[in-house]
Amino acid sequence: MEDQILKLLSGVAGESKWRSSYEVAAALGIKHEEIVGAFKSLEASQYLILQQEKESKFELTEEGRKYASEGTPEYQIFAMILEKGGSADKAALEAALGPAFKVGLTNGVKRLFTVDKSALVAIPGLTLENTPDKDSLFLKKLESSDYFDGQFKTLEASEEIPKMKKRSLFAVKTLTFFRPTKGPNFQSQLVVKRADFTAEDLAKGTWKDSSLFKAINLNAVGREVISGGLHPLLKMKTEYRQILLEMGFEEMRTNCFVENSFWNFDSLYQPQQHPARDAQDTFFLKTPASSSLKCPELQTYFEKVRSVHEKGFNHQDNSSTGWQYPWSAEEALRNVLRTHTTAISSRYLKQLADEFNRTGKFEPKKLFSIDKVYRNETLDATHLAEFHQIEGLIVGKNLGLQHLKAVIREFFAKIGISELMFKPAYNPYTEPSMEIFCFHPVLKRNVEIGNSGVFRPEMLTPMGWPKDVSVIAWGLSLERPAMIHFGCGNIRELVGHKVPLSNVRHAQTFTF
Ligand code: PHE
Repeated sequence: MEDQILKLLSGVAGESKWRSSYEVAAALGIKHEEIVGAFKSLEASQYLILQQEKESKFELTEEGRKYASEGTPEYQIFAMILEKGGSADKAALEAALGPAFKVGLTNGVKRLFTVDKSALVAIPGLTLENTPDKDSLFLKKLESSDYFDGQFKTLEASEEIPKMKKRSLFAVKTLTFFRPTKGPNFQSQLVVKRADFTAEDLAKGTWKDSSLFKAINLNAVGREVISGGLHPLLKMKTEYRQILLEMGFEEMRTNCFVENSFWNFDSLYQPQQHPARDAQDTFFLKTPASSSLKCPELQTYFEKVRSVHEKGFNHQDNSSTGWQYPWSAEEALRNVLRTHTTAISSRYLKQLADEFNRTGKFEPKKLFSIDKVYRNETLDATHLAEFHQIEGLIVGKNLGLQHLKAVIREFFAKIGISELMFKPAYNPYTEPSMEIFCFHPVLKRNVEIGNSGVFRPEMLTPMGWPKDVSVIAWGLSLERPAMIHFGCGNIRELVGHKVPLSNVRHAQTFTF
């Protein structure tokens, strides 16, 4: 095609008479976009220099085309009235014209006809000959105009244009085309230059002849370098972390993968005979099987937790019967792989309570963590023995379920999930408690994505929090929304060797 173009252009004597890409396309009977491609390649090898230009034309909308061929609705009404001898029944006209009737009535009343009760009456003296349908004629003119016919500017300046534009009867189409002039390498025939040297070129020295080779294009886009990328879960984690930081939460340290049962369960008022503390649900460590209570300051708290489990507490305005069983310190010191990040929240809450009791100053707090937790689960399409939790808590005064629902909703809205369902649930450490569900578009069913609640006084009182301080908290799975985001029906497409590389390669974190 480049050859054909060069031949065509060099056949015309003066460069000023050279044809534009649009005219060349018409002359060669080739699509304009293909000619543009060839022009660009001739420009790259400096046969041509291109000047970009624009040309416009009017294109009628469907309605516009209809008015051009059948007349405007007001004239259709007018013609029908005249046909009926100057007056016609309104309802009959409406039945004949359908939706166009209303448009015609608005535009034609008083100009072509008047309303007389249930009839439309032509204005005396007006005929189709002395009052022609100028708008329809003008639309016809627009319809027949084309690029390069020199009509656009005149038509654009016509007084009818604003009115037609308001009625959405046309659109303006713009064509970008190129006007060529000679480049430094111009000749009437295309010399195909090679892009690469061969071993022979090097041996024979032909590589020195620059006329044989393409110049190096320093503007060429480089080949995409495939390098390491972030794992999809890590991308999600980064994104969620950012959202929580933007919502004013501070991050908790999560580097304690092994916890003792005390922080993982007992401090959360989870009784020692609770089924979650069975080996079927929790991974217990063999070595070291248990830990010692290192800091003596914790001893008092340890005993308070024992007491709350065994017999509760009885303050003036707050009381609990506890779980009523003999609490074992040995059981509390057994090491586990943490089963939830709530163990971390508990540690932080105790620290904050200590701080509050030392200074006497209460400071509301918003904390979060995102990290791995471990459960002895039966593996299936949506469960693995390890997963990530996004945990958040807010320490404040008089916080309740409505606050909790609002923050959870706000967080999920930010990650693009707006349809949430809350279901009453039970946790030993929260009351009330709610499970959070959302619809999984691939599995086509509602899936649980988290659990939440208001921490119980049995958990907060032994830490040293006063009665008016409340803590709302939630724990969400990172994997579930990630599965929804990446459209995975099976968790193995998100964790393990079946993760699609395309989800890993895009180095940037995604935006929702
Ligand atoms: N620990 C709960 C879980 O693992 C989540 C949770 C956190 C519930 C905080 C309530 C409050 O599912």
